[in-house]
Amino acid sequence: MLIVANWKAYVEELARAKKLLAVSKRLAREDGIAIVLAPPAPLLGVLSAKNKSRVAFAAQDISATAGGALTGEATAPAYAAASASYAILGHSERRAAGDTDAVVAVKLAHALAHGLTPILCVGEAERDGEGRYLALVREEITAAVELLTPRERTRVIVAYEPLWAIGTTAEHAIDPNDLAEMVLYIRKVIAELLPGKSARRSLVLYGGSVEPDNVRGLAGASDVDGFLIGHASVDPHTFAELVKQLT
Ligand code: PGA
Repeated sequence: MLIVANWKAYVEELARAKKLLAVSKRLAREDGIAIVLAPPAPLLGVLSAKNKSRVAFAAQDISATAGGALTGEATAPAYAAASASYAILGHSERRAAGDTDAVVAVKLAHALAHGLTPILCVGEAERDGEGRYLALVREEITAAVELLTPRERTRVIVAYEPLWAIGTTAEHAIDPNDLAEMVLYIRKVIAELLPGKSARRSLVLYGGSVEPDNVRGLAGASDVDGFLIGHASVDPHTFAELVKQLT
């Protein structure tokens, strides 16, 4: 299982960041568990500097630019220099701040060109009865990989994150059966966009109020490869409890 801890802007102190890294290092020793931490950029730089453990790091976003006279931008090469190996792209909170599908596509291309594995977030704001949410998820995935070569497409990880399930509680997260259905659907969409049978190796994650109480049910009912965890990843005890449910 791939567990991506999206710290968002919740973690702002070095002491807390270090505690979370220490807990993650222990958890990452468990068989079958891979942990990726996505701290705010400056903390990522500090934590990754001396990291020799199995824990990996992700950017929470990257610049859509190729660098230059752009105050405040952090580009893919800068994250790669700070030892990030993944980049969360197209998160709904970045889309809300202005990232269109076209911008997300450019970011995926930059990430891959500089050795970062993209974790592409897709998901509908609400579910309708006519299945329009399925078409939206398909469109977001299709648009995001548009600029990529067939080979590059095989490296993209898709994280299904329905907006209505983000930042709430386990009771309001997705029903495990609905997740199972969506994971199958996403695998079908990916298979149409990737060469040959390569999509079989593509990873599909789920995010949106994954907590210690629901993670086992979600993992057990569906063919999901892992989780993107927000609020439940920023308290060391809760995060440890959550990961242990999967071991
Ligand atoms: P949440 O966030 O776990 O707090 O719902 C998940 C995410 O937005 O990646």
